[in-house]
Amino acid sequence: MDELNALVDGAKQAFEGAGTPADLENAKALYIGKSGRITELMKGMAALSVDEKKTRGAAINVAKQAIEAALNARRQAMAEAELQSQLKAEALDVSLPGRRRGAGGLHPVSLTLERIEAIFGSMGFDVAEGPEIETDWFNFTALNTPEDHPARSMHDTFYVEGGTEAAPHLLRTHTSPMQIRYAVQHVKKHRAAIDSGAGMPEIRVIAPGRTYRVDSDATHSPMFHQCEGLWIGENVSFKDLKVVFTDFCRTFFESHDLVLRFRPSFFPFTEPSAEVDIQFQSGPLAGRWLEVAGSGQVHPNVVRNMGLDPERYIGFAFGMGPDRLTMLRYGVNDLRLFFDGDVRFLSQFQ
Ligand code: DAH
Repeated sequence: MDELNALVDGAKQAFEGAGTPADLENAKALYIGKSGRITELMKGMAALSVDEKKTRGAAINVAKQAIEAALNARRQAMAEAELQSQLKAEALDVSLPGRRRGAGGLHPVSLTLERIEAIFGSMGFDVAEGPEIETDWFNFTALNTPEDHPARSMHDTFYVEGGTEAAPHLLRTHTSPMQIRYAVQHVKKHRAAIDSGAGMPEIRVIAPGRTYRVDSDATHSPMFHQCEGLWIGENVSFKDLKVVFTDFCRTFFESHDLVLRFRPSFFPFTEPSAEVDIQFQSGPLAGRWLEVAGSGQVHPNVVRNMGLDPERYIGFAFGMGPDRLTMLRYGVNDLRLFFDGDVRFLSQFQ
């Protein structure tokens, strides 16, 4: 038995002495491997009697279990030590200041668009979006704009590849094509009621979005925003335009003594047409007339291109510039600041 005890002690010492997991596995092989000491002892029992085998075998097993226990204890200790040294090596200095990620925010023009949508939404206007690459038909022809109109020239409009000579593609020069696109869909949906004479629900929509022109200075950018408005029904008049637009401007600028002026003008798609000017009665801009929109009663040819009878359906349209509204609201004097992407400028609106 002393021999077995000595064997167990020897194994424990060998395991303790192993410096690396590989050393430990080698030490293990010496004691409990296939040709290790325990296996040898087992083989040496061949000559013993059955009774002797029982006691001897049990004693060897006890020794083997003690060796296995010592091996596992050493393995665990090694793994623990390894983990500790890894943790030490990869220690975080939690006292270092973190890197901050600044919170983003909406662009000032987006804030204006949201405001426009909320105000017109509260007046029962739908909000529609349409393509920035348009056909010549929607951008000009359907809007009663003649073949030789200067707006159609290469100097004013960005023509793009993809169309044909008869139907060129271009970057829309205004949001007015959305008048036609939206009205045509609306009319299609209510065709049966229109044809039966029952009539259709009124068209009431705004269409905000990006527009493009060959233009660039402090108050013009080749890319800018517009917001179209359209209201078509059987009894919609210029008076409604004045009420709606006045209401809009006063709500937008939060100013009740804001006055509006409808100045006679010309657009191919409206007749009569007017520029809308506003004047603040107080504040830094007080007393000056500021142009904010074009407007007018929708031209009969345009109503026809919507698929409606101009003898029965009538209404008004307007097109305003959200960029300009943003400049006025915040007192910004250079339009280009909006599109330079300079965070020092943009973060002031958060
Ligand atoms: N589309 C015109 C422009 O870009 C603005 C405009 C004027 C829109 C009169 C309208 C309107 O709907 O009735 O200059």
